[in-house]
Amino acid sequence: MAQRWTNKLTAKDVTPEHMFWNRRKILAGLAGAGLGSIAGGVSAQEAELEANTWEDVTSYNNFYEFGTSKEDPAHYAKYMTTAPWSVEIGGLVDKPGAYGFEQIMEAMTIEERLYRFRCVEAWSMVIPWQGFELADLLNLAGVQDGAKYVAFETLYRPEEMVGTRFPVLDWPYREGLRLDEAMNPLTIMATGIFGKPLPNQNGAPLRLVVPWKYGFKSIKSVVKITLTDKQPETSWNMTNPGEYGFYSNVNPEVSHPRWSQATERRIGGGLFAQREPTLMFNGYEDEVASLYEGMDLTKSF
Ligand code: MTE
Repeated sequence: MAQRWTNKLTAKDVTPEHMFWNRRKILAGLAGAGLGSIAGGVSAQEAELEANTWEDVTSYNNFYEFGTSKEDPAHYAKYMTTAPWSVEIGGLVDKPGAYGFEQIMEAMTIEERLYRFRCVEAWSMVIPWQGFELADLLNLAGVQDGAKYVAFETLYRPEEMVGTRFPVLDWPYREGLRLDEAMNPLTIMATGIFGKPLPNQNGAPLRLVVPWKYGFKSIKSVVKITLTDKQPETSWNMTNPGEYGFYSNVNPEVSHPRWSQATERRIGGGLFAQREPTLMFNGYEDEVASLYEGMDLTKSF
């Protein structure tokens, strides 16, 4: 029987929902107010920050198809049509074709998982995602023997995605995993967050979540999954190979060229929460370290 995953996090670890929706603003506030290194005490500045961020429910996201500024997705993602939706599964599979979103939802077991989510700018959260194991979807399509990698693509529909009119990235947005990473029981396709369906700006109707990798591997609004025998191209690696590798594992020992990855700040741990040491593989070492045995992770970063 396939190995199933057991959750070790509990409800008390979850990032408060209002802080999740306001995370970008909270971080911008921290950086802007120069509070990055202060570790204790409540100031008037903090009280003000909290009032601003908790009142305002605007979401700040990265979803470059809707623009490169953090507020753009919340403004423009509403123009993306998410129904009907289908995912074209192809390449080295037994049953290639278009899989409708409803058809997928009927076939999959949807469960809630509390995962740590780590961003390359050194902040972390614990998020309740709803979704299903990617392995279950790949098995539905039937993975063939020669397959070694999985390539993903986001919807590319310029008339609904204002950001794609500019050549910021080589559209469509692309991501990839090695097959064993894709089949790991931790890897999910998320369809909901905080008990609600995914908002468009967070990648409706389904996005990838790989909890031991940086957030940018979580490709949003997926329309295409291809099983291949060659390592696929990935958007951030194509754009800036010196900074973003194919693997993008959370790894405190490998610094991003422009900043250290050794520590992080937990959103929801209090505005003045101490930085915590970043955990290898984002705390999922027991589950995934074996996937990288024998590899030099400073080269395969
Ligand atoms: N997926 C697509 N299609 N386009 C994007 O620009 N940005 C990535 C990732 N997935 C992105 C994407 C980056 S850089 C991050 S940090 C996460 O989405 C952010 O997810 P969130 O907005 O839900 O926090």
